[in-house]
Amino acid sequence: MKEKLTALLERARADLASAADEKAVEAVRLSVLGKKGELSAVLRGMGALSPDERRAVGEIANRVKDELEQQLAAAGARLAEAKLAAELAGPGLDVTLPGRRQVLGSRHPVSRTLEEITAIFLRMGFTVAQGPEIELDYYNFEALNFPPDHPARDMQDTFLVDPASLGAQAPAGPVLLRTHTSPVQVRTMLAHKPPVRVICPGKVYRCDSDLTHTPMFHQVEGLLVDAHVTFGELKGTLDAFARAFFGGAVKTRFRPSFFPFTEPSAEVDVTCFLCGGAGCRVCKNTGWIEVLGAGMVHPNVFESVGYAHDAVTGFAFGMGVERLAMLRHGIDDLRNLFDNDARFLARL
Ligand code: PHE
Repeated sequence: MKEKLTALLERARADLASAADEKAVEAVRLSVLGKKGELSAVLRGMGALSPDERRAVGEIANRVKDELEQQLAAAGARLAEAKLAAELAGPGLDVTLPGRRQVLGSRHPVSRTLEEITAIFLRMGFTVAQGPEIELDYYNFEALNFPPDHPARDMQDTFLVDPASLGAQAPAGPVLLRTHTSPVQVRTMLAHKPPVRVICPGKVYRCDSDLTHTPMFHQVEGLLVDAHVTFGELKGTLDAFARAFFGGAVKTRFRPSFFPFTEPSAEVDVTCFLCGGAGCRVCKNTGWIEVLGAGMVHPNVFESVGYAHDAVTGFAFGMGVERLAMLRHGIDDLRNLFDNDARFLARL
């Protein structure tokens, strides 16, 4: 048995010395140390030996096994070294090849526009107020002086919330997704005594979807209430905003309009930033672009929030953020802003 073991070790040694690759090394390992290998076969034969012989042969077998393992490791290392040397001697790495750039994301144009609008009004001394997107009909319409049969209350425009979906928390009145940020005016005035000077940025929802409408969009509301607020101050404020947002050369124009919660009401246009007022595709050849709605707070609104309407006056305005972002970036399809195509967003 001893001879068998020594012969086995010698042969393995010779095989390893001539092994040209890792496969050959592995074949040697299997043929000797594997379950069906020669060493295992020898060890299995040990059952027939006397205890003394078994101990002696066992010792040799262990030594042979240790020796073999060392030899295997050495052969592996030798091959790995040879492989590395061959690679280094070869044509080599081309380190001049440019790496792959990591593409950085960017702020969404709607978020950027919203932040920009907010920053302009913060500089004028406004603070930010917020309210819920799931709103009571009362704050969205009733307290804002919408008559009960006003068409805006129609399901055509408004997403109504099924009271059953609100479970035990369902409030008494009808619930909807706010159609504008104006309910935050009401909530702010109910919570604070005058003077009030806030802007309310946020999401609003209308059942509408085409080239220029999406069911969800963003507005920024403004509200200023104090003892002697005038329409002239409203004009000055919005004029300053337009120049800060569109550039110093821009002019504003106020046209009479109607909102139930302001009186008088106006729609505000700015001179077309593209053609400077001469007329072009963006302004549909009028030279003017409508950018927001505004007006003096209606006495009925003051009444519903408990402000004495002979003691205070105020103005309010509201603007669509997507619309301003589109004008600013020359986007002609609103839906581009919601497709989130990274190639489109990266170009802005
Ligand atoms: N809430 C109006 C709208 O969504 C805009 C507006 C706000 C008009 C404040 C006047 C005053 O169309």
